[in-house]
Amino acid sequence: MKSPRAGMDVKNKLVVALDVTPARAKEIVSRTRDLAGIYKVGPVLWLEWGSECLKFFAGEGARVMIDFKFHDIPNTVKASLAALLRAPGSESIWGVTLHTLGGYAMLTTAVSERDAAAHRPMLFGVTVLTSLREKDLYRVGINRTVEAEVKKLAVLAEDAGLDGVVCSGDETAVIRKACGREFLTLVPGVRLDANPKKDLDQKRVVTPAAALAGGADYLIVGRDIYEAEDPRERLEALLGAAATAER
Ligand code: C5P
Repeated sequence: MKSPRAGMDVKNKLVVALDVTPARAKEIVSRTRDLAGIYKVGPVLWLEWGSECLKFFAGEGARVMIDFKFHDIPNTVKASLAALLRAPGSESIWGVTLHTLGGYAMLTTAVSERDAAAHRPMLFGVTVLTSLREKDLYRVGINRTVEAEVKKLAVLAEDAGLDGVVCSGDETAVIRKACGREFLTLVPGVRLDANPKKDLDQKRVVTPAAALAGGADYLIVGRDIYEAEDPRERLEALLGAAATAER
């Protein structure tokens, strides 16, 4: 039986990653604005468009997740966040990502900077990229399972005062147990047809329904939408699939 939450406003749980040119981003936004709750902007779009893109999203009344995965010394992260949050149009920013491996001091400094700002978006910590598997962790000197590493980084992020973490659909359950109910999980690597063998880079991939059923608060989808011949149709299909989730 479907849970009563199943059809619950899935559109506000789906983050559309716009790793495209400004022209394509504008086209996708114009075609999906009524269906997409949140858009994600990372270096691919920002490097071409710059901070001007914030004015566009603010003008659209859209919420934006800025996915820069800040990972630097605390002072640099503090100054970067301050610059971001005073940019015209920054009222559109819903969330900002930081890399949890930047450490506790970097994370708490970011939280203080955000708390002091006029506009205060959520801060999300990236744990282990969804493109990595255990053997990749091993190669960078991390000798524990992906799940154990993600759990450790999620607890660190929560202790530092972040609002949630980015993880794969395989780890939401362990984070739910380790962290408070209010602590959010955002899951990239979401595909209508989740077959890791088909993916060139993402390894820990899940379907929208599996991610939500596993406890994900938000799903992040990029290529499945922006590479589709009809991004709107694909977004509708993803939302339909997400709405079938049993929780
Ligand atoms: O195209 P695809 O759906 O794989 O895009 C996923 C998006 O989520 C990309 O913009 C990627 O940079 C981002 N992301 C990720 N894994 C993380 C954090 C962010 O794939 N751990």
